[in-house]
Amino acid sequence: MYLGLDLGTSGLRAILVDADGNVLVASDQAYPVSHPHSGWSEQDPADWVAATERALDALKASHPSELATLKAISFSGQMHGATLLDRADKVLRPAILWNDTRSAEEAAAMDADPAFRKISGNIVFPGFTAPKLAWVKAHERALFDQVAMVLLPKDYLRLWLTGDHVSDMSDSAGTSWMDVGARAWSDELLEKSGMRADQMPRLVEGTEVSGTLRAELANRWGIKGTVKVVGGGGDNSASACGVGCFDEGDGFVSLGTSGVLLSAKAGFSPSPETAVHTFCHSVPDTWYQMGVILSATDSLNWLAAQTGKKPAELSALLGDSIEGPGQVRFLPYLSGERTPHNDAAIRGAFAGIGIGDGHRELTQAVVEGVAFALKDNHEALKATGTELKSLLGIGGGSNSDYWVELIATLLDVPIDLPEAGDFGAALGAARLAIVGDTGADPGEIMTRPAVARTIEPRQGLAGAYEDAYAQFRALYPAIKEVL
Ligand code: XUL
Repeated sequence: MYLGLDLGTSGLRAILVDADGNVLVASDQAYPVSHPHSGWSEQDPADWVAATERALDALKASHPSELATLKAISFSGQMHGATLLDRADKVLRPAILWNDTRSAEEAAAMDADPAFRKISGNIVFPGFTAPKLAWVKAHERALFDQVAMVLLPKDYLRLWLTGDHVSDMSDSAGTSWMDVGARAWSDELLEKSGMRADQMPRLVEGTEVSGTLRAELANRWGIKGTVKVVGGGGDNSASACGVGCFDEGDGFVSLGTSGVLLSAKAGFSPSPETAVHTFCHSVPDTWYQMGVILSATDSLNWLAAQTGKKPAELSALLGDSIEGPGQVRFLPYLSGERTPHNDAAIRGAFAGIGIGDGHRELTQAVVEGVAFALKDNHEALKATGTELKSLLGIGGGSNSDYWVELIATLLDVPIDLPEAGDFGAALGAARLAIVGDTGADPGEIMTRPAVARTIEPRQGLAGAYEDAYAQFRALYPAIKEVL
């Protein structure tokens, strides 16, 4: 048996899989995100540990004999978050998450130094880890001086499971401290950030064994032998492992809290000027590129919270099939935006609301606004020379046929929906555990899922959506001017 742990933004998912990668059981455990100020986004690392304890206790209760034969564990993690530890591994402050943009000023200062884009291959976005530490240094100096170790969220979970300070290449690629082409920490970028190499965890490949499960935890969950803990990955590369995206042009669109349009790449070919991200993949010697929007299902969740409805109730108002764009436009920049604008200060907007418009029209505007933002990401990826040959739809939002058909139409690419439930990132984590344990060829284990349905672009409506997209494009500079 193998365990995949997906440490997401809204909760943790644990799945137990057999050696062929078949999912036996999943346990989902939620935790909150706090937004103490506009643009801030924090979580208590103790909540991640508590969620893992609850999930493993649940797996032990339902599948004790299977859990007892666990061989290896691996991870998928929300990326970029800063978990700050003192010398005794005590957490110094709430973790600052990937969609926190408080460090916009620090990020811009780092990004103005050409070394960062040259070595890390990416814009220094405010959500990345290095500018967060610069913010802590500027605003919480006494605390900064106590920082002995900086861990990404899933690596804090690994520390609790194993006692080791280790990270993997794909997640660390999003810190702005890594030489992403060389797959190593960059002394130059660390020095320019006022950080030291001894504050960084040891790096392993996503498929490499990083340590073993502490005996105390193995006993608690009734596990007999030694359990290997394998590198794992940031959630996007782990998802790519979950759906077998490794060849140039193989991609997915993920509608989660964030929205991601990802394509595997044949080699390391960064293109920071497009605001596309270029990171190490979780398999050695491979890389991928993606555009990232900060609020995908988060935008619909926000509207649901404001209207007192559930997100699924709002999506149901739209039906299953698109009928052309509505009159209301929505900019999904509730937490600022990464690709293509790199703008932490921008905020969301509705435009064109009429007196008769209600929940349905606002929902349609939100769903369309997110889809238009993903089209912006498609344009950015195309500008790097990437051509998406095929796309899988993953993440909670891909349960909406309406949303998927809209994105397929806007991108003019058919979208495949996987058959066996959406275990993307957690399955990728479990597959990394299998490869780490057995040494199997990743290509043999990390296959593409069986496709349940393919949603095709709707040709007849493309023109109307192009016009609405042009309005969407014009709104960003207009709103920027007044906000
Ligand atoms: C990627 C990113 C998000 C988070 C969400 O750069 O910030 O996709 O990983 O979990």
